[in-house]
Amino acid sequence: STSPVKVAVTGAAGQIGYSLLFRLASGALLGPDTPVQLRLLEITPALKALEGVVMELDDCAFPTLDSVEIGDDPNHIFDGVNLALLVGARPRTKGMERGDLLSANGAIFTGQGKALNDHAADDVRIGVTGNPANTNALIAMSNAPDIPRERFSALTRLDHNRAMSQLATKTGSKVTDIKKLTIWGNHSATQYPDIFHAEIGGQNAAEVVGDQGWIADTFIPTVAQRGAAIIEARGASSAASAASATIDAARTWLTGTPEGDWASMAVCSDGSYDIPEGLIYSFPVTTSNGEWQIVQGLEIDEFSRGKMDATAQELIEERDAVKELGLI
Ligand code: NAI
Repeated sequence: STSPVKVAVTGAAGQIGYSLLFRLASGALLGPDTPVQLRLLEITPALKALEGVVMELDDCAFPTLDSVEIGDDPNHIFDGVNLALLVGARPRTKGMERGDLLSANGAIFTGQGKALNDHAADDVRIGVTGNPANTNALIAMSNAPDIPRERFSALTRLDHNRAMSQLATKTGSKVTDIKKLTIWGNHSATQYPDIFHAEIGGQNAAEVVGDQGWIADTFIPTVAQRGAAIIEARGASSAASAASATIDAARTWLTGTPEGDWASMAVCSDGSYDIPEGLIYSFPVTTSNGEWQIVQGLEIDEFSRGKMDATAQELIEERDAVKELGLI
């Protein structure tokens, strides 16, 4: 077996945590030969519930689970971590203004960014799932000046997986036949799920679909509003699928994309595709050896350009709002 990997999870006593921890502990991230050390962060009032979750982790007797540590101090929990999955965030509650939401989350992600900066392992990679994920990642990144910017990413893999599933159903294909799908932009209703460069069994996906109306009026809104549809049906927001995507994203980052495919990851823009530099924006990326690269040279038509710019505009506004609050 290889040396253990130290994985921090924040918001570990929450809904997503309840699915995520068991998958991580059972080896879903790096396989059965890599021992996992879990470092779980919660706010003080949730520590008792987290102790209960740890009792259940114990009761699974997972061979890959090397150790579990819990606490409410990010400086301690992030000590030496190789991977930090930032899931915990302040949800929007009734009557909460957008500015209140941004500042509540700002406090969380400035503190966690600093703690990661000071205590994480040199090879740390940070994936942000907690919403607003892109802007939370921007805040953490901006408060961790010693960690290379490439080490921060926000989760759009759930959107990517949702798009794969919708496209497979529409075309009667298998998700394994679909390659090169892209989520552009923000993990929000303005995201742009793009199938114009995607392939189904080697054929262009948009041509296989052959119905621009379906793409514009059904596919894109269904993917972008899937989170709301889950809440409507389940009475609670998506959790198991979010946990699964969180693991997919981290595994892809650490172990690489397969030849002839790519993944969607919200990363710090370098100006590719005229997306303003410094925004945490979802791009098509290939990964290898723990590094990502934005796929270059895709042709962008007018329809795509409009949608890519609209979601960038929303991220600019979020960035300006947190700048105004002094969070970045
Ligand atoms: P939840 O409310 O069940 O759990 C969140 C947990 O975070 C709570 O246990 C809370 O005590 C904890 N927490 C709050 N502040 C914290 C802090 N400063 N440090 C550590 N822990 C803290 O929420 P759930 O359903 O698990 O979702 C978590 C987040 O993930 C939400 O922001 C949600 O909107 C987001 N999400 C993102 C998705 C994506 O695709 N990017 C998909 C689904 C959810």
